[in-house]
Amino acid sequence: MTLKAYRGEILSVSLDPLPRPDAIRHDPDGLLVVEDGIIVARGAYADLADRYQSILVESLAGLIVPGFVDAHVHYPQMDRIAAHGEQLLDWLERHIFPAEQAFADRAHAREVADLFLDELLRNGTTSALVFPTVHAHSVDALFNAALARNMRIASGKVLMDLGPDGLRDTVEAARDDSEALIRCWRNRGRLSYAVTPRFALTSSDAQLRLAGELLAAHPDMLLHTHLAENVQECAAVIDRFPDAYHYLDAYDRFGLVGARSVFAHAIHMCGRSCARMAQAGAGIAICPSSNLFLGSGFFDFAQADTHGIRLGLGTDIGAGTSFSMLFTAGLAYQAALARGTALDPFRALYLATAGSAALLHIGDRVGSLLPGQEADFVVLDSGATPLLARRTAGASLADRLFALQILGDDRAVARTYVMGECAWDRTSGGTP
Ligand code: GUN
Ligand code: ZN
Repeated sequence: MTLKAYRGEILSVSLDPLPRPDAIRHDPDGLLVVEDGIIVARGAYADLADRYQSILVESLAGLIVPGFVDAHVHYPQMDRIAAHGEQLLDWLERHIFPAEQAFADRAHAREVADLFLDELLRNGTTSALVFPTVHAHSVDALFNAALARNMRIASGKVLMDLGPDGLRDTVEAARDDSEALIRCWRNRGRLSYAVTPRFALTSSDAQLRLAGELLAAHPDMLLHTHLAENVQECAAVIDRFPDAYHYLDAYDRFGLVGARSVFAHAIHMCGRSCARMAQAGAGIAICPSSNLFLGSGFFDFAQADTHGIRLGLGTDIGAGTSFSMLFTAGLAYQAALARGTALDPFRALYLATAGSAALLHIGDRVGSLLPGQEADFVVLDSGATPLLARRTAGASLADRLFALQILGDDRAVARTYVMGECAWDRTSGGTP
């Protein structure tokens, strides 16, 4: 048994603070006590110090927040960030499909998976829902790399039988590969499996039906896909599924809309699809940097909130332009404002932590720094740059948090802890 304690300023937002402002928990001088990677106590240092007198206390300078949870990201696309010139459908053809074709090579998949997870940790992200490629071994590469780092990662082979050459599977191969991967990876480490049809346009009806069958056979799996991201994409979906009431309905007909479904983007949504999404308990991974980069549009917070849809935040690398969930939260503020909503910084922190964790159904394990949860946390440095230091000097907590979101990025992540162990230290450029 190992017992450790960390002293510092601790902040978490365990529920959406829009309806539940009491979910914001701030310990200006707090203590986090961790036993074998699990938080056993959290509170004011003055209240807990006596009880934990005998254990070594490490003081952490900075703001301790839960490890970030990236609710939508593509690991094979990290080498194609910043590909110039196109909106979604042309960008996929010109830049992304070639990058994913390279994952036919297992060694390449292993190399990128390692780089990707290290980049997550450097940015304070300890959990993620990740798109790999159509290749089963791209899942093995990611899950093996996650096991080695003890990270909480969800992923699953991409299903795409209408994809381009070199990235196409078949209904039968998709079934066999998915079943084999689920058998292999179920209940290992901190991993979970997500049935992952790329989007409605790259799977036949038969394959979308298969995805529904996989979910029905394995009700503990997530469903992860894209929805209503781009205007041309939406038009093509309505052409392809003339009987569907709306884009979400094209998925719904195959049993893909439920409480464990995570849809990335959902920018171009009608009221009826929002109502269905809320009724099903499905969630949206909002990806503002991607939406801006591909010219897709701005997420409508007011519309989603009117319907009470569950929300999280994703980088969507490589359409997204940064691994940093701080930077992504800052862009969420700007995207929300473009549609008339001023996103509160505590709500943005919630979306980047407990909100995304709830979408991934790991909210009982991570995201809130509550006793019983796994000790994944980040130490943020509001003095990381001269500008940040000047802007946050003497600022209130809300103002400091907002400045970190607007001005901060990986430079503001001093340390990242996974299950109570330091997995990234900015000073040493690795583990301490
Ligand atoms: N829709 C289908 N595939 C993708 C993808 O790889 N990235 C984004 N942003 N949208 C998609
Ligand atoms: Zn995506």
